[in-house]
Order: sequence, then C-alpha cells, then structure tokens
Amino acid sequence: MSIISNLKKDIKEYIKNAGYEVENLAIETSNRKDLGEYQLNDAMQLAKKYKENPRQIAEKIASELKKDERFTNINIAGPGFINISLSNEYINEILNDMNKDLFSNIDKREKRKVIIDYGGANVAKALHVGHLRSANIGEALKRLARLFGYEVLGDAHLGDYGRPLGFVVLEISKEYPDLPYFDPNYKGDYHELSLPITNEELEKLYPLASSKAKEDESYLEEGRIITAKIQNHERGYYDLWKKIVEISKADIKNVYDILNTEFDLWLGESDAVEYFDELQEIFEKKNLLQKSEGAVIIDVSRNDDNSPMPPLLFVKSNKTISYETTDLATILQRKKEYNPDEIWYVVDGRQSLRFEQIFRAVRLSNLVREDVILEHVNFGTMNGKDGKPFKTRDGGVMTLKKLIDIVKEETLKRISNESIKEEEKEDISLSVAIAALKYADLLPYRATDYVFELEKFADLDGKTGSYLLYSTIRMKSLLNKAKDINYEKANNIMGQSEKNIVLTLLELNNILNNSLDSKSLNEIAEYLYVLTSQYNKFYSENRILTEENKEKQESWLVLTKVVYRVNMLLLDILGIKVPEKM
Ligand code: ARG
Repeated sequence: MSIISNLKKDIKEYIKNAGYEVENLAIETSNRKDLGEYQLNDAMQLAKKYKENPRQIAEKIASELKKDERFTNINIAGPGFINISLSNEYINEILNDMNKDLFSNIDKREKRKVIIDYGGANVAKALHVGHLRSANIGEALKRLARLFGYEVLGDAHLGDYGRPLGFVVLEISKEYPDLPYFDPNYKGDYHELSLPITNEELEKLYPLASSKAKEDESYLEEGRIITAKIQNHERGYYDLWKKIVEISKADIKNVYDILNTEFDLWLGESDAVEYFDELQEIFEKKNLLQKSEGAVIIDVSRNDDNSPMPPLLFVKSNKTISYETTDLATILQRKKEYNPDEIWYVVDGRQSLRFEQIFRAVRLSNLVREDVILEHVNFGTMNGKDGKPFKTRDGGVMTLKKLIDIVKEETLKRISNESIKEEEKEDISLSVAIAALKYADLLPYRATDYVFELEKFADLDGKTGSYLLYSTIRMKSLLNKAKDINYEKANNIMGQSEKNIVLTLLELNNILNNSLDSKSLNEIAEYLYVLTSQYNKFYSENRILTEENKEKQESWLVLTKVVYRVNMLLLDILGIKVPEKM
C-alpha cells in the first residue's frame, strides 16, 4: 500500500480510538504549511452525526494523534479544524522509502482487460491535427493503466473501409488505366506487383476525387460502384485496395512512431466486416432491425430521452455498411477475439451522439456481457487563435507532419547549448518539439478545447514540455556529477522548501489514481510542473555538489534522485521521451 494510504488508514484508526467512525477521511493539504501541512476536517461532520461539539471532538482526536511520533505541530483551529504536520524524521523516512521502491508507493488495482481504441487514422488520407489528441491521450492512458496492473491492448482501428477508398481507387483507374489491376485478363499474382504511386500522391487523390464527386453525379455513381466492388472482394479492385492500405499504413506508422505512439493491434474497420453476418443475425433475432426507405435502421431512442435520439443506420439504402455498423461489428470481433472487460474510445467529442447510439444498440442486443464497460473518452479540439479547429494559413487541413515541422522549427531556434553539434540538432529539436506538443495537449482537461500557441508551447521557461525536459536533464546531469559521492539515505531534510518537495512526492499516488479515474492526464501534467518548479527553487537556493555538511549533501542527492525518477516515470506515462541533452 502507498505511504499516503497507510497514513490515512492509521488516522482513521486514531479517530476510532477517540470514539468515532469515519468512512472517507476529510483530509486536505494546506497551503499555509507553517500552520500545518495537512488539515483534518472530519470533526465538523462527526459533530452532526454524533450530536457533539466539534471542537471537543477535535480535541479528542488530536490527543490520539499526539501519541504518534510521525505527527507534529498538532493544533486545533476555528470550530474544529485539526492542523497536523509530519515530523522531520518521518519526512526523511518517506523519502528513503520512495527511493527504495517507487512503485510500492502506488496502489495497484484489480486487474482488468481493456482495449483502448485511439488511432482512427484514415488510410490514403494524411493524419491531421484531429488525430493528435487521440494519439496523445490514448497512448498515455494505456501507459497509465498498465502501471496500475491492467492488461491493455491499444488498437489503431484504421479507417480502411468505405467510400473514401472507393474514390481513391476510382481516381487511380482514371489516371493509370493501364495498371494490371484494371485488366480483367491479367493472370499474374497481384502480390508481386508494386504500385507506382507514393504516399504523397495517394493523399492528394481523395480530396481530388471527393471534389469531383460533388460536381459530377456520374463520377459519384462510378465511385459507389467501385466501393461495392472492393467490398465484394472483386479481383483486381480488392487487390489494389489492399496495396493502398499497405502503403498508407507504413506512412501512418511513421508518424505514430514520431509521436511515441505504439499500438499492439493494427486492425482496421475492414477487419470487422467478416463479423457482419453474425452481427446481423444477433440483431435480427432480437427483432431490432427495421426497414426504412430502403435502409435498415435500429431504433435506439428511450422514453426518457430529453432530446430526440435518431435511429442508428445499420445498412445504408445503397446496401453498404455504415460507420456505426463497422463499430458494432468491431465490438463483436473484440469480444470474440479478446474478451475485454472494458473498451475505451479515445475519440473527438463531436462523435458523442454516434457512440451513444452504438452503446445503446449494444445494450439492446446484449452484444457483450452487461458488465462490460464501454466508454467514449471524448476530447475537445485544438483550435487556432480564431477559436476554430486549427487550420493552415490558407484554411486547409493541417497535417500532423506539417504541424510537427512547425513546432520543430520553433524548438530548433531555442537550442543554445554550445556542446550540441550541428548534426545532433535535428534529433534534439524534434524530441523537444514532440515534448512541447504533447505536454500542451495533455495539460488541459481532455474534454476542453485549447488554443495552439506556438511560442508559448515551445518556451523554455513556462509550464511547458521544454521546461520539463530541460529541468529533468539538469537533474540527471547533477546525479552524474555526483556519481562518486556515496549517498544512500536521507536523514537531513529539514528546511520547509525541501520538506515541501517530499510532501508533493507523497501526493503521487493520488494524482495517478485521479488521472486514471477521470481518464484525463491534466493532473499528471500539472503535478509534473509543480514538482519540477519546487525542485528548481530548492536547486537554485543550494549548492548541492559543494555542500560541506555531508549529511545534508547526501539527503539532497537522495531527494534529487527521487524527483528525477518521478519525473522520468511521469514523462514516460505522457509518452514524452527525454533526450540526452538539449
Ligand atoms: N477514423 C475515424 C475518423 O477519422 C475515427 C475512428 C474512431 N474510432 C472508432 N472506433 N470509431 O473520424
């Protein structure tokens, strides 16, 4: 159990010894540390419950707490607030404990099997800013849940199905009509063919096709026919589609690599299609499918709906499967192949209505066990200064590659360390750019929108990824310089600014738990900044390497080491890599 959980358990015991029972302790960290590091507010609630004077209750509890040497400065304020501080000995003990084993200070949870769906990149279309947040948030949630002992599978869930692909193939057939894929007499093996089209060209084809389709009804019809051919696995068309997926996937993977985003599963919407017949049968048996204007729909409305809930479109009137249905089929696939306890969809908040429809359809049909949790972990958009989703200067979609380049250019300008060689600068500025971008993205609560501010994000001195990297690297270099000093134990942490750092370290378990509960990384991001700033303040006030009091020096080095390790742990959860230098 974590130190803080133990401490809370013991305090509850003291309250019991005083003659009272509390369920959840009302303990708060105080910002007037001189008055008391913690404030215990339980006497007020207990007064109501036991019909006694809160001040008297507080006194009885305080006299129990005084028996414990870990507490000092116990005093009662106002109507019955109990202020308590931790003794210096105990502070040092906590630090040593964390130094010995950081992980034993994190409460584990019961193991659950979770699939996190957080890719959503679309084949033959460039990854754009909209995909940034799902990658960042999803990857971090995956790492966080694993820390707590969950079994997690991250799935890229590629958009590799449906009309867009049909249009890309149509456009290729117009531009390269002589390709063997379109030759009904071709007898060779399509696997051995290479496609003379680069990913950059592929990415241009869909926007082109889609604008043509808007103006030209017959082009639109051709696109539909080709989409159907692909979906019916027609030789040539189907093979070309597979080839496109392969080329595009490799490129998508590259971008995710740069973002330190690693998926365990690279499945796509199309992989679920083989489950469609079974899915349809399940819904049919429950009489949930209705015909409507040539389409098949599912009524997912409820009597107590406050606003109208449109039906889920199961099969479109042109007989193709809707985006919602690929999600339903994917749930069936996941159940059969992985049997998860939970599925988390880290997807833009603008898709919340359709997830509500999908989840309702799952419950109506009992597609999965009742106790399987399905959650739309929604997020807000990254906006431009105009408050609208971030675009390029000419109003186009901002691709992720372009965005990363812009930030990298900015971080490159700020590399001033003279020991860094010209040829190292590229890699380092990229690492810093990713840190800046990710940190800024994870800092606000996930469901809120935020504004992209280049200079602010890249700043070395603000609440930024660059600041955290810089500070963490400095801690590491201090520890390297102290390699020859033998420091094992802290016993001299006494000043308030050092004690405050330990008190902050003590909060680690809560922060991690809160983040997992809210499925948002904002508390971790904020905590990293608080801890790092507190450490930097302490660092600037002391000369650790030349300190003559050996006990002090040893204690400070232990402190530095624990803060460094906590930073590395949390940065890793956020998916941020720390370069050797910057
Ligand atoms: N490909 C989709 C898009 O770009 C996102 C997929 C999200 N995941 C899901 N299971 N629907 O909008």
